[in-house]
Amino acid sequence: MIGRMDAFEAIARRTSTRRFTPDRVPREEIERLLAAAVRAPNHKLTEPWRFAILGGGAARRFAELRRAYRAAKFPDPAAPEAARAVERAYREALETPAFVVVLSAVSDDPVRREEDFAAVMMATQNLLIAATAAGLGSYVRTGGIMNDPALRELVRAPATHRIVAIVSLGRPADAAEPTRRGDPAARTLWLD
Ligand SMILES: Cc1cc2nc3c(=O)[nH]c(=O)nc-3n(C[C@H](O)[C@H](O)[C@H](O)COP(=O)(O)O)c2cc1C
Repeated sequence: MIGRMDAFEAIARRTSTRRFTPDRVPREEIERLLAAAVRAPNHKLTEPWRFAILGGGAARRFAELRRAYRAAKFPDPAAPEAARAVERAYREALETPAFVVVLSAVSDDPVRREEDFAAVMMATQNLLIAATAAGLGSYVRTGGIMNDPALRELVRAPATHRIVAIVSLGRPADAAEPTRRGDPAARTLWLD
């Protein structure tokens, strides 16, 4: 872990990490990130989040699911360009030291459902910021694979929950510059 970093610095430094070193992320480190995640605001303290950490055989199985999911998007997955993209998705998953699959409760009440989803995404952001502060790289993704029954089975998703994000974690292979953002002043209205 690199030295202490305040919240502003960790937020400013966070950027999606695309390449990781092969070092594994110790369980205790992931546990610290999850402890930070669940400090997110949460209306009615429903604790709607669930996390599934994929390592070892589960991570390999996820890489296979990613490959199959990617392949199914091509009319001819065996065509050279498709095969390359499919292989890239597979390799990239295999070379990711850990995945945190994030799930949210799906309430029958639409208001509760939205509040729970918001809380889970806030928890996910906490996790990303804490990861940056701990010297880890991260990458949050969503996408149709979240509804793949095979992925739901892999993470033992309860029928009451849906997958809302998949976070890659590991040590960054290179120092990436944060991506650009406009000045918030251009999108802010100060009202007296
Ligand atoms: C809800 C959400 C879903 C995302 N889904 C994807 C995704 O499916 N694929 C992807 O490559 N990046 C995904 N991203 C990452 C964004 O593309 C990334 O955050 C953006 O390019 C800004 O870069 P930065 O994270 O380095 O600041 C997602 C980010 C968020 C917040």
